[in-house]
Amino acid sequence: MPATGPSKNLVGVLLSGRGSNLAAILDRIDSGDLDAKVVLVIANEPGAAGLVAARERGVPALLVDHRSSPSREAHDGEMAAALEAAGARLVCLAGYMRLLSPSFVRRFAGCVMNIHPSLLPSFPGRQAQRQAIEAGVKISGCTVHFVDEHVDSGPIILQEPVPVLDDDTPRTLETRILEKEHVLYSRCIALYFSGRLRVVGRRVVVT
Ligand code: GRF
Repeated sequence: MPATGPSKNLVGVLLSGRGSNLAAILDRIDSGDLDAKVVLVIANEPGAAGLVAARERGVPALLVDHRSSPSREAHDGEMAAALEAAGARLVCLAGYMRLLSPSFVRRFAGCVMNIHPSLLPSFPGRQAQRQAIEAGVKISGCTVHFVDEHVDSGPIILQEPVPVLDDDTPRTLETRILEKEHVLYSRCIALYFSGRLRVVGRRVVVT
């Protein structure tokens, strides 16, 4: 159902590259399937295609190049100030390739999500699809989780399995996992804003 008025579910998105997850979130918002509004997209890489895509769709988009900041804290502080000024209530990492500083995580405690192309805690970090193939697992998938100060860590919200086929390459597996990512992230955002996610220690309970 399309929202009847402007959504109060304000989302900030951080990315470093392609931005297909951002596009999927925007598509779901545009189709009325997700009651949310992306108020700001921040990229740390000047060449991030997601930055261009956001601007083309009329979403405010900002480059905060980490190379121009004296420290991670300073870079993250600049992003945090912009997100707060935009009124973001939830920050979604969508292919954001840098570890967030503890001060950023504290400032947005419980309000930052990430999506990762494996069934965490297996295969954190880069090249998760290659890691899965090399480990010989038969099932991989994707995970949306709350962010803490470690890499691809933090309480798991939802996961979606994807079979690993005998002839999979990292590229073919990536493509099939991405299809699931594009659905899963919006589901988690909707759950978040519906107030149905409760963090109990390491576990996220969906009420
Ligand atoms: C996705 O595979 C996501 O799980 C990971 O980085 C990739 C980003 O892809 N964190 P895109 O930029 O959203 O297309």
